[in-house]
This record gives sequence, C-alpha cells and structure tokens, in this order.
Amino acid sequence: MTPPGRQPVRRRTAALRRRAVLATVPLTVAALLGAAGPTAAGPTEAGAAGPGTIGAAGAGDPYFPLSGNGGYHVRHYGLALRYDTATRRLDGTAVLTARATQRLSRFDLDLTGLHVTRVAVGHDTARFRRDGQELVVTPARTLRRGQEFQVTVAYHGTPGPVSDPDGSADGWIPTDDGAFVAGEPQGAMTWFPANSHPSDKSSYDITITVPQGRTAVSNGTLVGQRTVHGRTTFHWRETRPMAAYLATATVGKFTVQRYTTPDGIRVYNAVDPREAAAAAPVLKKLPSVLRWESTLFGPYPFRSAGAIVDHAHDVGYALETQTRPLYDRAPDLATLVHENAHQWFGDSVSLTTWKDIWLNEGFATYAEWLYSEQHGGESAQQTFDALYATPAGDDLWAYPAGNPGSGANIFGTPVYARGAMTLHALRRAVGDRTFFRILRAWAGEHRYGHGTTAAFERLAERASGKDLTGLFHTWLETAGKPGHA
Ligand code: ARG
Ligand code: ZN
Repeated sequence: MTPPGRQPVRRRTAALRRRAVLATVPLTVAALLGAAGPTAAGPTEAGAAGPGTIGAAGAGDPYFPLSGNGGYHVRHYGLALRYDTATRRLDGTAVLTARATQRLSRFDLDLTGLHVTRVAVGHDTARFRRDGQELVVTPARTLRRGQEFQVTVAYHGTPGPVSDPDGSADGWIPTDDGAFVAGEPQGAMTWFPANSHPSDKSSYDITITVPQGRTAVSNGTLVGQRTVHGRTTFHWRETRPMAAYLATATVGKFTVQRYTTPDGIRVYNAVDPREAAAAAPVLKKLPSVLRWESTLFGPYPFRSAGAIVDHAHDVGYALETQTRPLYDRAPDLATLVHENAHQWFGDSVSLTTWKDIWLNEGFATYAEWLYSEQHGGESAQQTFDALYATPAGDDLWAYPAGNPGSGANIFGTPVYARGAMTLHALRRAVGDRTFFRILRAWAGEHRYGHGTTAAFERLAERASGKDLTGLFHTWLETAGKPGHA
C-alpha cells in the first residue's frame, strides 16, 4: 500500500502539470488575437459617456470589458431550463430579480448565441436587441434608482461554449451524454442571460428538465426531483450569494451518492460510471478534506457540498462550481483539495476584478501545498524551494502573479504557482501563527462578499504589524524571478 502522504505530492505534480499545459499552450492563440482580441474591445456607446440613464455594457473590468453590466445588481436568478440531449436544444426562461443602482431607461444583460423570443420587465413586454454578447433591454417605463424589478427572458437554441482568450473553452460544452457546464471566466452567458461578472453575486433557483435516465446537477441543495412522461425535472437552490461563473447545470448519465457529513454538510456526488472506479477513493476523502480545510480557513461557507465527476477529458480543467466542484475526469486528491479550497477563496470571498485572480488560484494552490505538508508529504517549504530553483527564463516567471496583464494569462502558471509562493513568502515573514490567523480572517471578514489584493495586503499588515510593501511588491507586482527567496 502507498504510504499515506506520498499520494498528495505525486498527484499535486500531475494536477499542476495539467493546469500548466493548459495555461501555456494557448498563449500562442492569445498572442495571435493580440490587442484586436474580443477582450480588448473599447467601451461601447453605453459604457462611455451615456446620457445618465443607460446602464453600462460592462462592469468596468479591463480584462473582460463586456462582462457584467452597469446600472443594477441581480439579487436572484430563477432559471427554468429544458435540455434535449438528443437534439442538444435548450429551452429556457430566466427570471432575474434585480435592483436599479441608477435611473435606468435601458440596460444590458450578457447572453451569447441562442434566440430570444420575449423579454419583459415586470408585467410589461420590453423592447430588446442583440449586440454581440449584449442583450440590450429597453423597459416600457424608466426604472427609478433603487427600484426592484423583475426581468423575464424567454430563449432557446443550441448552446455551445465560448473560447477564452487563453484558448480554452468554457460555458455550455456538449458531451456524449449531456453537457459539461462551466462558466469561468465568461461562459455563464452561453446558457442564461446574466450580469456575468464576479462583482455581482446572487442567489439561484435552477430547474433543469432532461430525458429520464439523465441527471441534471447544479449548485446548492436539490429541493425537488420528479419524473413525468419520460422527463425528469431537477430543482436546485443555492441561497448563498454566487457569482454567475460558478453556476452549473451539468447533464449526463450519472451515479448519484447522497449523505450528510458528521459536520452536517449535505453531500451530493454525481459520477459518470466511466470515472467511478478512479473517483471513488478520492471522493471518499471529501468529508475529511472539508473538515481539514475548515480547521485552517474557518467554517465551511455553505450547507451543501459534493462533486460532479464527468467524462469530458477534452475540457482539460476542473472548476470550483459553488458547493459542488465540477471535474472533467476523476480528480486526484490534490485537485479535490484545490477545488474545495476555492469554496472559501473564490466562491465565498469573490474577486472584484479578474486581475486579482491570484486571490483564487494562489490560495487554492497553497491549500494543496499545506495539505501535503500536513499529511506526511512534501513540506510547503520544499515545494517552494523546488519551484524557486526554476531557471529565470521559465514560464513561471513570465509575469507577476498580481498583474497577469490580460485575460489570456489569468490561468497561467505564475498565477497558480507564484501566487502560492507569495503566500509562502508571507508565511515566512510573519510566522505561522500570524499567517494562519490572516488566512482565517480573510475568509471570515469577506465571507459571502468580495476581496481585492489591496485589502488582503492591508489585512496582512494589520495582523502582523509589519510593513509588507516590499514583499508584496516583489512577489505580486515585479516581473521576472525575484532575486532572493
Ligand atoms: N478555476 C479553475 C481551477 O480550479 C480553472 C478554470 C480554467 N478555466 C479556463 N477557462 N481556462 O483552477
Ligand atoms: Zn483553481
């Protein structure tokens, strides 16, 4: 038998390699797109100097200028979907409950592909047009600042993924038995009209009707399931604030396992039978991984947990879909640790802008290092040292973790590995006690909210009483390999 503790180390390397391949190969594609790429589009008419009642076409994120929208926040999404796995047709009705943050004569939603048949604001039919990924809605009456309103969008079509600036695909990705649905960073708009930026978080009710025999898995708790005339409807509810990219509606032929952990967390695992044998020993560890992460990061932020293990190897990545991470294959233990660490870092504490992505990936990667260290594997120091030995010309040093430079780089090696190295450098500077206090305070103070790199730096300085400007500047902002570890 493999000694306990050896596995995480070996598996972490494999997981890291899978992400690294993903991150480096598509760089060429991104380079080809260059400044003319879709993410480099300038502000649209509405985003620029609108007349004051027109909601901006984007949330103001320089990496993804059209992601999200201005002028309102979405409090709740009610999505009713029906997916025909044979024809790959999706029928949807989305009811968004939102609040205007300004007087609003017109506003946008993000939606790409698909046909919209009707938009209503409140009870009144609204005018709409499509403009790239913007669904431009003109309500019959101008909305007052602070007004709560409901937008209903009826739509259908054959959804497909979007290609990201890093060359990977996300969104609605059809598979041989359903669909793998992952939205980071921009894919939510491929299957529902959304305010698709992590700065806006909402609760969700998602119902998905699929042919009997298929299972549709989403976030949060399964509040109902029923089969009528050969079709099964699954009703999922996530009450905690969730960013649109973390929503899923993954469909397939899955084996379902349900139980409640000793800590009272309701687990729902859906596993493609082709991955079952490989997934079982890792999924068995989920309750202990969540307990271990809770002791380090503070209480698990959600009431439900689990895994969706699909057989979709072409996707090439896993995603920390809220409460229930989505894997494109049986995960290794390090990947399980990583995606569940994101429940604290990324899902509960969300990004304000994509530039700060190291707050997600650096933290989740450092969780892998800590898991190894505390389970008889390589210490975080050893992992750090091995990475630091990487020659100056390597991809690892291609750009600083805190400033990846563009949307094409947000899932690159520097964000993951150098992001984790940043945390390790912080740990060495402030000592273990203070470091772990900082991690818990970060998760606690920004629980269900948002964070920024600047806020993290302030917290670290406050907790340690040290001036950490130099450390963060070196590890997060300076190009090239830091001169001394
Ligand atoms: N956040 C995912 C992770 O856990 C990676 C998502 C990659 N997505 C992409 N479109 N390249 O590392
Ligand atoms: Zn991650």
